[in-house]
Amino acid sequence: MSGLHVGIIMDGNGRWARAQGRPRWRGHLAGVDSVRDVVRGAPEIGITTLTLYAFSSDNWKRPPGEVGRLFWLLREYCQRERNELVESGVRVTHVGRRDRIPQSALAELDRTLKATARGHRLHLQLAIDYGSRWALTEAARAISRHVASGDLRPEEISLDLLDRAVAGEVPNPDLIVRTAGEQRLSDFLLWESAYAELYFTDALWPDFRREDLALAVSEFQRRERRFGAVTAPAEAPQPTVVG
Ligand code: IPE
Ligand code: IPE
Ligand code: MG
Repeated sequence: MSGLHVGIIMDGNGRWARAQGRPRWRGHLAGVDSVRDVVRGAPEIGITTLTLYAFSSDNWKRPPGEVGRLFWLLREYCQRERNELVESGVRVTHVGRRDRIPQSALAELDRTLKATARGHRLHLQLAIDYGSRWALTEAARAISRHVASGDLRPEEISLDLLDRAVAGEVPNPDLIVRTAGEQRLSDFLLWESAYAELYFTDALWPDFRREDLALAVSEFQRRERRFGAVTAPAEAPQPTVVG
């Protein structure tokens, strides 16, 4: 049985550091502990796919020193956590552009993707140099190539085909969590989140732990998802259709 797909916009590292009078990168460093804890806790609360927004296509606008530290942390994380990820049955994949990721970070990331490829307990998608509008642009290009080569007619472009081109075989997210009080998606899983529940918390990412994720999931479970349909109250008599 497939469980929940939760996406997390891990925000507030800089504010966490500032509150302590430390440089921004100390917040990113502390944020790695939250990543580790959330990845460990996720399968226990019914999550089978976890997508973590680690670096957006627009984060290149940050000072080069901060960007460099973020990719250094990615390299460290991949190196240090690899064995534990393999042992705990986590399969790591990457979504986003590969070509701009610094070589040393990409090499460690690739080692982790390869080493964890057989994991079946949790699918951990790392969104790095990711933006939904980029992903949609890529999907449009891929579909156009099929049309141009004559093996797809424009009328055959369906919602399902576009969904597969954008998201592959990964189920759409059920719940999107954003930390640090901001209530926006910042180009994260825009297409895939069409019917996702959104959950915003003021907790800064370095303070966020598996218990906070469990709280988000339990609130999600109390929400009523309708997907555009009408749901009759359980105790109401069902109308009989005569004719
Ligand atoms: C999230 O924290 C980490 C990344 C976007 C890489 P921020 O660095 O955005 O922290 P704030 O929003 O400045 O507090
Ligand atoms: C979104 O956070 C990107 C990640 C968490 C990786 P940002 O901090 O970059 O988003 P904005 O700039 O506040 O929208
Ligand atoms: Mg931010």
